[in-house]
Amino acid sequence: MTTLLLRGRTLSFRRWPETIDDASAYAYEEDGGVLIRDGAIVACGSFADVRAMTGDGARVVDHRPNLIVPGFVDCHAHYPQMQVIASYGAELLEWLNRYTFPAESKFVDAQHARRIARLFLDELVRHGTTSVAAYCSVHRQSAEAFFAEAHDRNMLTVAGKVMMDRNAPEGVLDTPQSSYDDTKALIAEWHGKGRQHYAITPRFAITSTPEQMEMAGALCREHPDLHMQTHLSENDAEIAFTQELYPWSKDYTDVYERYGLVGPRALFGHCIHLSEREADSLSQSGSVAVFCPTSNLFLGSGLFDYQRYRGRENPVRIASATDVGGGTNYSMLRTMDEGYKVIALNGEKLNPFQSFWQITRGNAEALSLADHIGTLEIGTDADITVLDARATPVMRLRMETVETLAEELFLLQTLGDDRAVAEVYVAGRPAKSDLSL
Ligand code: GUN
Ligand code: ZN
Repeated sequence: MTTLLLRGRTLSFRRWPETIDDASAYAYEEDGGVLIRDGAIVACGSFADVRAMTGDGARVVDHRPNLIVPGFVDCHAHYPQMQVIASYGAELLEWLNRYTFPAESKFVDAQHARRIARLFLDELVRHGTTSVAAYCSVHRQSAEAFFAEAHDRNMLTVAGKVMMDRNAPEGVLDTPQSSYDDTKALIAEWHGKGRQHYAITPRFAITSTPEQMEMAGALCREHPDLHMQTHLSENDAEIAFTQELYPWSKDYTDVYERYGLVGPRALFGHCIHLSEREADSLSQSGSVAVFCPTSNLFLGSGLFDYQRYRGRENPVRIASATDVGGGTNYSMLRTMDEGYKVIALNGEKLNPFQSFWQITRGNAEALSLADHIGTLEIGTDADITVLDARATPVMRLRMETVETLAEELFLLQTLGDDRAVAEVYVAGRPAKSDLSL
């Protein structure tokens, strides 16, 4: 039995912070302790209290004056797009055809897939992200490689092979039947193995025939406990093309409704241009809209209206995500910095507590996994990130004038990146200091 006692300033959210002064929304200890046994958090509170209940033999790691927070959760990223980041000059559909599909076609090679899966999870850990909802390529072996790599590291991931059988090059297409069969086989092999979760993953309405959409719906019916992830309402040309392909549909969301793909386990990437009817549909079905600010800005897709979805009479559940490689950074801090600016352009503000709630507990709740990840609560998995707000000369200088926790969090979000991540624990094991790169 391995016992680890972390000491530092601990921060964990209980619920959404309504305002910047809403201190009961979180638990904060200036001199805190987190006791970890066999990969789980068994105590969390003041260091003195936790120390008193710890037997001899625990290894104490002193992270003071750094902040100990739950590991970040990224609710939408494409691991086969690591070599797509920074591809110049295209909006969504051209970007997919010119850069993304050719890059994904290489994942037919299991060795290539394993190498990139390894580098992708290394990069997440380096940036303080301990869980991800990931898209693999169309190839079954790309999902095998991803799950094998995540399982070896004991990282909790949600992932699936994309189902896509039209409007893309031959090398990245499956068929309705093969996508069903491969998904079934992957679910049987990986869902529930260690910390792995399978997500049924029709890429988006444009790259699936109605026959394949039926198959995706059948998979969701047969496995109601599984996640479903896809893209929705990202840019104008995509929306218009979808309307052409599904002429009977009321709107884009209606396509997914018709095939039974909406619901509390459904994660819809982007959701930038939704009508009120579509927002109502997501709200009523308990579906999640995933905010991907760096991607939405990079591809020029539009401004996600976070406060409109949150503040409406029927709120829409919201997650946030990098969307690598449409997204331009692996860091959830950089993601929320860009998110803050997008929300500001919509005339609103997201305060720093709300941002940190979002990338920890908020995203865990969006995945319906808050009993396992996203907090420092007793009984949850010990996925933890240690943040250093003095990591760079610029941050150190700015910290000289910082007086409150809110200011420190905002500084971390505005100036922080992987350099501000001092250590990461994955299921209680030091993971960042363990990286070979
Ligand atoms: N829509 C369908 N596929 C993709 C993808 O890979 N990235 C983004 N940003 N949008 C998509
Ligand atoms: Zn995406």
